[in-house]
Amino acid sequence: MDEAYAARLVGKDNVHGYPFDIYVHHGAGAYICGEETALLESLEGKKGMPRLKPPFPANMGLYGCPTTVNNVESIAVAGTILRRGAAWFAGLGTKNNTGTKLFCVSGHVNKPCNVEEEMGIPFRELIDRHCGGMRGGWDNLLCSIPGGSSVPLVPAEQIIDAPMDFDTLRNLKSGLGTAAVIVLDKSTDIVRAIARISYFYKHESCGQCTPCREGPGWMWRVLSRMAEGRAQKREIDMLLEVTTQIEGHTICALGDAAAWPIQGLIRHFRGEIEKRIDQYSGNPHSEPVLMAAE
Ligand SMILES: Cc1cc2nc3c(=O)[nH]c(=O)nc-3n(C[C@H](O)[C@H](O)[C@H](O)COP(=O)(O)O)c2cc1C
Ligand code: SF4
Repeated sequence: MDEAYAARLVGKDNVHGYPFDIYVHHGAGAYICGEETALLESLEGKKGMPRLKPPFPANMGLYGCPTTVNNVESIAVAGTILRRGAAWFAGLGTKNNTGTKLFCVSGHVNKPCNVEEEMGIPFRELIDRHCGGMRGGWDNLLCSIPGGSSVPLVPAEQIIDAPMDFDTLRNLKSGLGTAAVIVLDKSTDIVRAIARISYFYKHESCGQCTPCREGPGWMWRVLSRMAEGRAQKREIDMLLEVTTQIEGHTICALGDAAAWPIQGLIRHFRGEIEKRIDQYSGNPHSEPVLMAAE
C-alpha cells in the first residue's frame, strides 16, 4: 500500500483524477468473519455474528452505508477483465460457466497447490497438470470434496472425469463452492473425516441460530459413534433428517455447510456406515473425533 501511495495510484492526488483511499484490515481470526455481514460487524468492532438479510450490504452495510463485499479473487481478476475485455474473459471456460477460477487443491495428491485455471477443467487434468497426480495413482482415489469442506463429497467414479464447473458439480449433487478441492484416497476413514468436518462447524458456529448452535455438535457426536460402528442403523436416517432440519433454517449458510457434508456421506457411503455397525465388537476404542491440536 505504501508503494501504491508513493506511485500516486491511490490517495488524494492520484493519477486517476479522483481521490480515494484503501485501508487494509486484519481479520479477527474466526471462520465466520468471512461471511459478508459478520465481516461488517467485525469491522465495526463487534462480535462476528451474521446479520439478518435484508437489508443487504449493498443497501445498508458498513456503518449503515451502501457496501460491496467481494472476495480478493473477484477484485484481483477485475483489472484484467477491464483491460482485456469482458468477451475475452467470457471466452474462457464452458457454456454458462465462463472465465477462470482459483483452485486450491489439498489432500492426497502428490503436490497440493493453488492455481488459477480455466473454469470447467476436468478433475483428472487439474490434478495431473498441477498437483503431480494422484497419490498412489488414479485407482487409489476414493472421493473428492470439490468445493471446500461445506459441500457434499462426490465418489471417485463420478468426479474423476467431471468438468470442474458450477453446473456439472450441482448436477452431481455437490458444488464448486470455493473450488477448494479436497482429494481423498482409499486410506481415508471417510466416516471419521466427515465427523471431523462436523467438529469444525460445531466449533465455528456463532451460536445465534438454534439449529446451527445445537445441530453440528449433536451430529458430530453421532458421527463419531458411527465411525466406530457404535450406533443403530435407524440412526442413519435420523441423522439425515436432522441435516434437513438445519439446512435452510438458519441466518447464514454455515448451517447448510454443517449439513451438506453429512448428506453426501450418507448418500454415497451408507453401506460403509452400516458395515461398521454390523462389525461393531462392543469395545469402544476411541474418543469422539477430535484433533490433537484442539
Ligand atoms: C460461514 C461463511 C464463511 C464465509 N467465509 C468467506 C471467506 O472467508 N472469504 C470470502 O471471500 N467469502 C466468504 N464467505 C462468502 C461471503 O459471505 C460473500 O458471499 C463473498 O465474500 C462475496 O464475494 P464474491 O462475490 O466476490 O465471491 C463466507 C460465507 C459464509 C456463509
Ligand atoms: S447459521 Fe450458525 S454461524 Fe450462521 S448466524 Fe446462525 S448460528 Fe451463526
